[in-house]
Amino acid sequence: MATAARQTSIAPNDLEAYWMGFTANRAFKKAPRLIARAKDMHYFTTDGRKLIDGTAGLWCCNAGHNREPIVAAIQRQAAELDYAPAFQCAHPQAFELANRISALAPADLDHVFFCNSGSEAVDTALKVALAYHAVRGEASRTRLIGRERGYHGVGFGGISVGGIVANRKMFGTLLAGVDHLPATYDRANQAFTKGEPEFGAHFADELERIVALHDASTIAAVIVEPMAGSTGVLPAPKGYLQRLRQICDKHGILLIFDEVITGFGRLGFPFAAERYGVVPDIMTFAKGVTSGTVPMGGVVVRKPIYEAFMRGPEHVVEFCHGYTYSAHPLACAAGLATLDLYRREKLFERAYQLEPKFADAAMGLKGLPNVLDIRTVGLTAGIDLASQPDGVGKRAYAAMERAFHDEEIMIRVTGETIALTPPLIVSEDEIGEIFDKVAKVIRAVA
Ligand SMILES: Cc1ncc(COP(=O)(O)O)c(C=O)c1O
Repeated sequence: MATAARQTSIAPNDLEAYWMGFTANRAFKKAPRLIARAKDMHYFTTDGRKLIDGTAGLWCCNAGHNREPIVAAIQRQAAELDYAPAFQCAHPQAFELANRISALAPADLDHVFFCNSGSEAVDTALKVALAYHAVRGEASRTRLIGRERGYHGVGFGGISVGGIVANRKMFGTLLAGVDHLPATYDRANQAFTKGEPEFGAHFADELERIVALHDASTIAAVIVEPMAGSTGVLPAPKGYLQRLRQICDKHGILLIFDEVITGFGRLGFPFAAERYGVVPDIMTFAKGVTSGTVPMGGVVVRKPIYEAFMRGPEHVVEFCHGYTYSAHPLACAAGLATLDLYRREKLFERAYQLEPKFADAAMGLKGLPNVLDIRTVGLTAGIDLASQPDGVGKRAYAAMERAFHDEEIMIRVTGETIALTPPLIVSEDEIGEIFDKVAKVIRAVA
């Protein structure tokens, strides 16, 4: 089509042009799940149905949807300052938000680097780790250790340390020099546990084996999620993170917690690091920092790490990394308003207090057809279903469709696991409603 004609033509509003991420495009486009608006605990579809949100969007809308103070802050900011250069320039809210986040983070996790997503946060964290060793004269420390069943976003760094085969197998050899800890899940010894399983701290000892294989002098960092979310809600076994911390300390290896999901109240604390009493060297965040309203991610580092970079001539850039939209004004405004709201409504404490009720309600699904395991931690539950004989993932996929189209609830499925992670404003009645609906869905796909 000629350019002039293209400019005046009306584009068809069909579903083909949009290639959707992490979505079965053909199945979706046959029976679309289209959302028009949202408020508090609910989504409203384009055909006017009201769905309870069992997933806080994608584990991100922790304050609930379209909360007035956050909406107003974004609107005000858009009218005041649309954008300021992120390099060699800044705007005051960026510093204010960095201060607020470092005050929430434990110990001397005092310096915040902003980006726009969890994937960027992970790649930033890995680059900080490599560069930190380099600036200290330990440039041989280049290996990065992830974990099987880990999810760290979709950047090349993130998929390299990640442990999900489908996310890795199409993309070549990825980063060199990466190794993986084993996953911490063992159904035979952990099934139907509320909170952190008693069994499994020893999985951390595998790090000693990896160190023995490669030598500590080649290893820069270990990255783990305190609770693996995307591969089905796998809480860290009791003592596991403490043991990882000890082994990392012994060998001078940096410990990175990927808190993209666990940050901002999901486990009843500002960060999971606090729940477990383990201070990582570097921590990522995203999602809940703006309650999903404006894209934002970031990395928090301990004081000595930041200080290691603050050397040399003062006019020279210390860390050659950053994004055009790092600390975007709209994201900062949304972040500040979101943190205010979390504090005002005590939402992290609320998640902590609701955890036993949520866990009991989740375990109420035990005994339903095909339920193989249920795991809970904070306001999060994972429910494993048995696969149908004709294909892995088919039953959970059918459950998601059934939930959306027939039971008026938004659930998330990953593999054969239903993951439930409602906004932290969820009421006790709504917890009951969510699990009643999920029970109906599980029966329907039996
Ligand atoms: C632990 C973890 N890290 C990183 C990411 C990637 O975040 P994003 O999708 O914002 O890039 C996710 C997303 O779910 C995540 O759960």
